[in-house]
Amino acid sequence: MKATALAHPNIALVKYWGKRDDALILPHQSSLSMTLAPLSVTTTVEFGVASDQVEINGHTAKGSERDRVLRVLEAVRAEAQGKPGPARMVSRGDFPASAGLASSAAAFAALAVAARAAAGLPGDPKAASVLARLGSGSACRSVQGGFCEWKKGERADGADSYAVQRFDEKHWPELRMVVAVLNREEKEVKSRDGMKHTVETSPYYEAWKRDAEAEVPRAVELLQRKDLQGLGELSERNAWRMHATGLAADPPLCYLNASTLGLIQHLREQRKKGIPVWFTLDAGPNPVLLTDAAHEVKAEALARACGAVEVVRCVPGGDAVLKSEHLF
Ligand code: DP6
Repeated sequence: MKATALAHPNIALVKYWGKRDDALILPHQSSLSMTLAPLSVTTTVEFGVASDQVEINGHTAKGSERDRVLRVLEAVRAEAQGKPGPARMVSRGDFPASAGLASSAAAFAALAVAARAAAGLPGDPKAASVLARLGSGSACRSVQGGFCEWKKGERADGADSYAVQRFDEKHWPELRMVVAVLNREEKEVKSRDGMKHTVETSPYYEAWKRDAEAEVPRAVELLQRKDLQGLGELSERNAWRMHATGLAADPPLCYLNASTLGLIQHLREQRKKGIPVWFTLDAGPNPVLLTDAAHEVKAEALARACGAVEVVRCVPGGDAVLKSEHLF
């Protein structure tokens, strides 16, 4: 009744931005991401304890943080035969302290894999992806390694909305994602609220939906060909378009700041000099630079020159895995 899993976060090349169902976390469009090593979250789940207990990075989770975990545990209980009962969950991330990096995708992927195993359910990436999605949408893409596509699905119950692996982590081991932390402060508008506001008020939202859906197969093809320039250009235009939908919301949503734009401008100049480095940007001011192994040191240097207070160089990561050592 006890199991532990480790999962990596992911960064989307084609972003998920907007839900068609807020409760089940069903997206309006498909998305595609790279799983990021070496960052990881480890989670231990034990069923059959006296009452539900949720501990994240050394503190007892409360409010919505706790509710999201309980939601996933509840779905596991519903699926498991013999009712596994209340659970204790302890989770720990190895992300650099206050690096401004979201760990929720890795955390819910690790929780899904650990909770299913602890309840005696068979290892099943599809089922684990559906389960992770209930905690946080992007988490469904962290159950497997390499490059994963979250298929938006059509069904109202969400059974066909999960991530599939397009290429494993060995497909393109030279690809790099360099996280440039320009600002450590917590963002003002969380992704969950920002995307909801965008869906409800942005006149650009329909165009975003159509465009992002069409970019996914193009991104798969570029990954297949290992076309760094093509993928870099796609990732930049998709990030710009996601941010453009937010800028057009009412009131507008702007996650970029002056240093974000400074770094982006610098990347353009570097590319003119032949340095292959592009960016992507989630719902915050910290760009993630896309480059290859031969240029990751250069990418880190230019991020620092543009004010990055922390830089994390990432490679394609592997699947979420079960571990024999538990956190308690
Ligand atoms: C901009 O997965 O954190 O990072 O489903 O509401 O938990 P919820 O949102 P979340 O949103 C991620 C948004 C994004 C793009 C992406 O990762 O695809």
